[in-house]
Amino acid sequence: MKKVGILISGRGSNMTALLEAMKEPGFPASCALVISNIASAEGLSRAEAMGVKTMVIDHKASKTREEHDAKMIEALKAEGVEIVCLAGYMRLLSPLFIRTFPNAILNIHPALLPSFPGLHVQAKALEAGVAFSGCTVHLVDELCDNGPILLQAAVPIYPDDTEEALSGRILKYEHRLYPISLKLFAEGKFKLCGSRARLSIDRDEYQRLLQSLVSLGDDQ
Ligand code: GRF
Repeated sequence: MKKVGILISGRGSNMTALLEAMKEPGFPASCALVISNIASAEGLSRAEAMGVKTMVIDHKASKTREEHDAKMIEALKAEGVEIVCLAGYMRLLSPLFIRTFPNAILNIHPALLPSFPGLHVQAKALEAGVAFSGCTVHLVDELCDNGPILLQAAVPIYPDDTEEALSGRILKYEHRLYPISLKLFAEGKFKLCGSRARLSIDRDEYQRLLQSLVSLGDDQ
């Protein structure tokens, strides 16, 4: 059983999806701690209601990013955390943090990386006129939205889409993608080969997985 720490800054809907999955019998990971850098983050009360330990580590109380990250490292290490999941954590992590948990920090991004890194990516996808967008769970390295991709889910973009409608459609798949990615990651099913993370499951299992991660628009 791997111990997970989750970092949030806001509403925490992905955090909630992860916590719900971790309550399922047989899930290979459990959540030891949720940390928010924002005291008013909605996700904190959601985590508490689910019986998970929470902590606020306000970045404004530290002079540097490293100082703030060092406080988070101390709290996560004290709980024996081995895997860190970013779930709407709206700050860049320092090299110190990333090197403390090498290839063990997961992030979810609401676009199909390497397309559309950064912020406001649903609007960027609409503007670019792509037919599909989606979400990506990847390992975090020292560059923004750049580390090895673990899994992706794809959703269609409709001609009359708005940023809000597209964000909602992607979010539904985020809630599905992140728990599946964490489960396979905690089971050691991803092997790192250079910049690539290869999933070692058989083809039938992979096809079933893909079917649950590609929307053809029938679910809006
Ligand atoms: C999600 O869209 C996630 O992909 C991005 O930030 C948003 C967080 O939403 N990294 P929530 O706090 O999980 O509801």
